[in-house]
Amino acid sequence: MSSGTSAVQTPKAFKPRIFSGIQPSGGLTLGNYLGALKRFVEKQDEGIETIYCLVDMHAITTWQDPAKLRHATREGAAAFIAAGIDPKRSILFNQSQVGAHAELGWIFNCVARMGWMSRMTQFKDKAGKNSENVSLGLFAYPALMAADILVYHATMVPVGEDQKQHLELTRDIAIKFNNDYGVSFFPVVEPLIEGAATRVMSLRDGSKKMSKSDPSDQSRINLTDDADAIAQKIRKAKTDPEPLPETAEGLKDRPEAKNLVNIYAALSGQSVAEVVAEYAGAQFGSFKPKLVELAVAKLSPITTEMNRLMADPGEIDRILADGAERADALARPILEQVYDITGMIRSRWR
Ligand code: TYM
Repeated sequence: MSSGTSAVQTPKAFKPRIFSGIQPSGGLTLGNYLGALKRFVEKQDEGIETIYCLVDMHAITTWQDPAKLRHATREGAAAFIAAGIDPKRSILFNQSQVGAHAELGWIFNCVARMGWMSRMTQFKDKAGKNSENVSLGLFAYPALMAADILVYHATMVPVGEDQKQHLELTRDIAIKFNNDYGVSFFPVVEPLIEGAATRVMSLRDGSKKMSKSDPSDQSRINLTDDADAIAQKIRKAKTDPEPLPETAEGLKDRPEAKNLVNIYAALSGQSVAEVVAEYAGAQFGSFKPKLVELAVAKLSPITTEMNRLMADPGEIDRILADGAERADALARPILEQVYDITGMIRSRWR
């Protein structure tokens, strides 16, 4: 509800800061790598301040076996580092170690509206016909996601296409909070959804997103897959009988063909038009081995490095603890201001 007190002040300038997160609800896929991780590394290397998080509190919105969650969190951290995240230059940590996320998440539960949450397509997809039986956390999930970002006053969020609606909600929460309290406290974040692989599709069904939760392992390439598994999955990937088209427009209405070309483009750093120009008229029988070669060349070093890092879980835990400490130092003062704005007495903390 609007407080109706003072008018919103002109937004103050926020310094560029990137936040993004990945759920450790299973092993990471090629979709996570191309849509998120690879771009996280690019942003770090551009010299922007980058904060990256394994969102374990989000993961438990659906049941997670505790031992598997712990393993997936460490494996996720290993994937970040193996892909090129430098834990000294970026902040890398797991969400539950920084309590400010959950604390601001609660406040945002009181800002976000039931109607907004009910319109979230990801909630509808995940809940399906079972919406009476899913956790309350799954419903409130996007408010915690908004807190993840806004507790750092992050201004830019690199994500895949499927997170667009959640980021629009993050903007709505920031605007409503600012309006309700008559402040210009939270930035209105910018989603960074860029590149050829913002939506990598299942290898078995070009109408479905590649996902770590798909029951078919053949539908995805996992970052833990070895060269043989990658080759076998790409060879078996669904395609159509037509050769590759002369132009990128020719991929329209050919979802499986388009997906493989997009993956090739994202892995090679070329545009889709360049890939199509190179392979115009080629049959998938000759394109797929090229894609296998490229995917193995790009992904195998990451898998090898992940395995090396996973041999020393203590070191991963130390990296996460260090990241959490640095994240906490940024988040705490911002959260304290939120408490102040909302009228909470914080005498214990002063
Ligand atoms: P999650 O864990 O499902 O996915 C992590 C990131 O990977 C991207 N992604 C994909 N990109 C392209 N093609 C695909 N098939 C594909 N599958 C996944 C996602 O878009 C995402 O960028 N809600 C988030 C996690 C989150 C978060 C945040 C993200 C929590 N708090 C704050 C950004 C900022 C999620 O479930 O992502």
